[in-house]
Amino acid sequence: MDSVVLSDYRSQGVGGKLIEARYDVIRKLNLRGLVAGSIPIDYSKVANHVTIEQYVHDVIAGTRFDTNLSKQLRKGFKVHGLIPNYTTEESCGGYGVEIVWDNPDYRPLRRSYPVAVPARRAFVVRPLPAPLMPRTA
Ligand SMILES: CC(C)(COP(=O)(O)OP(=O)(O)OC[C@H]1O[C@@H](n2cnc3c(N)ncnc32)[C@H](O)[C@@H]1OP(=O)(O)O)[C@@H](O)C(=O)NCCC(=O)NCCS
Repeated sequence: MDSVVLSDYRSQGVGGKLIEARYDVIRKLNLRGLVAGSIPIDYSKVANHVTIEQYVHDVIAGTRFDTNLSKQLRKGFKVHGLIPNYTTEESCGGYGVEIVWDNPDYRPLRRSYPVAVPARRAFVVRPLPAPLMPRTA
């Protein structure tokens, strides 16, 4: 599922409400969380002198604002990796960023039926260098 706010209506709280609505569904269904592909939409503006790894690092650190990824991080997503050849969109150099939101209210249930094995991913996620990866407890 994709969600897009028309450019004329961005930064007015619409996309944030859509993201929160998704979180509400995930909480109600007691799901672990949400994995999404984000487009670092302003990367092409600096791609000739900044690597994608450095760019994403700066966005995470808050020293660079990306009009797409920064908003998603603001809403609680965390960066888990880079996805080369994610899109033909030129503004992001073709890169996607794997972003994850973990449901803080998730409660594991005891299952009495077999769990389906998830289908194989259609793309390869390239992990970010260790300093960029989220810390695990
Ligand atoms: C990502 C997207 C949905 C966000 O929509 P939006 O309506 O612009 O987002 P919002 O105005 O609700 O802003 C989201 C958050 O970023 C913050 N934000 C928005 N503009 C900001 C700015 N210029 N500077 C700093 N923070 C900003 C908001 O304060 C909000 O956080 P808050 O709820 O804690 O206050 C929209 O940019 C979009 O359609 N992008 C392209 C499509 C896409 O990649 N979709 C995602 C794939 S599923």
